[in-house]
Amino acid sequence: MTILTETYTLSNGVEIPKLGLGTWFIDDDNAADAVTAAIEIGYRNIDTAQAYGNERGVGEGFRDSGIAREDLFVSTKLAAEIKAYDRATAAIDTSLATLGLDHVDLMLIHSPQPWNDFRGGDYAEGNREAWRALENAYQAGKLRSIGVSNFEQHDLDNILANCTTTPHVNQLLVHAGNTPTELIAYCQDNGILVEAYSPIAHGEILNNPDVAAMADRYGVSVPQLCIRYTLQLGTVSLPKTANPDHMRSNAQLDFDITDDDMDILRNLRARDYGEHSVFPVYSGK
Ligand SMILES: NC(=O)c1ccc[n+]([C@@H]2O[C@H](COP(=O)([O-])OP(=O)(O)OC[C@H]3O[C@@H](n4cnc5c(N)ncnc54)[C@H](OP(=O)(O)O)[C@@H]3O)[C@@H](O)[C@H]2O)c1
Repeated sequence: MTILTETYTLSNGVEIPKLGLGTWFIDDDNAADAVTAAIEIGYRNIDTAQAYGNERGVGEGFRDSGIAREDLFVSTKLAAEIKAYDRATAAIDTSLATLGLDHVDLMLIHSPQPWNDFRGGDYAEGNREAWRALENAYQAGKLRSIGVSNFEQHDLDNILANCTTTPHVNQLLVHAGNTPTELIAYCQDNGILVEAYSPIAHGEILNNPDVAAMADRYGVSVPQLCIRYTLQLGTVSLPKTANPDHMRSNAQLDFDITDDDMDILRNLRARDYGEHSVFPVYSGK
């Protein structure tokens, strides 16, 4: 069994592959080729978002792959700016139409705040409205599971206190150098599976000599060590690449990181994302 066939089970019984493919920064015109290449290699979990502008190409990739729909796990995200019930309901339907699917396997609220006010004002009411739209689409069978992304504990508490369906997933920035241990534990205690986004620190960790030295000791690449690290935390890992060679090597994870090395990686602090710090999720807020 390779990592590509291993799954976690969400609190509603839906199975989700442990390793997925991120598609941020893959253009709509290139997304179909990247998705078909990934599926050919064995990936079954593909992560997109309304904000990535590539749902059309990602959906084309599924259809071109020839894989049965029930064997794929497709995630998308409601745009962070949508904080009203009617707009959220319409946007869910637009995602389905753009992907060319009658259901998606997971849909997330992309962020608790709009990107231009990340970690800013109070959007509790808007998040409850967006969540109600996701809940209704879930009940209608358009979404097989629902969740959130970039939600901190107080953002989760707002949903948990008001929801009829507990979020199945919280997708968070998790990588060696940035491990939100308490928030991961809070999610796990509430039956919410954590997905690790940017498991390779958006590429920045490739330049870290300490991580490179540890990867050398295991005879693996830095991406392999970093992806394996997030899996051993009990999270789904979502590395992004459009390069089939990288897709293949990122799925070759037949090694275990020792407890001592897990502690070293968990305690590592490396949050310099260089030129990418302009993005809200890497801004340190
Ligand atoms: N929910 C959110 O707010 C949020 C935010 C950010 C990201 N995400 C999700 O998480 C996914 C991954 O995050 P990410 O795109 O920021 O970064 P990432 O996966 O941490 O890193 C991607 C970078 O690593 C490189 N890379 C991947 N595999 C490699 C390999 N084997 N060897 C060398 N380089 C390799 C890629 O280059 P190549 O393309 O050249 O391989 C790319 O530059 C996104 O695509 C998206 O789906 C979600």
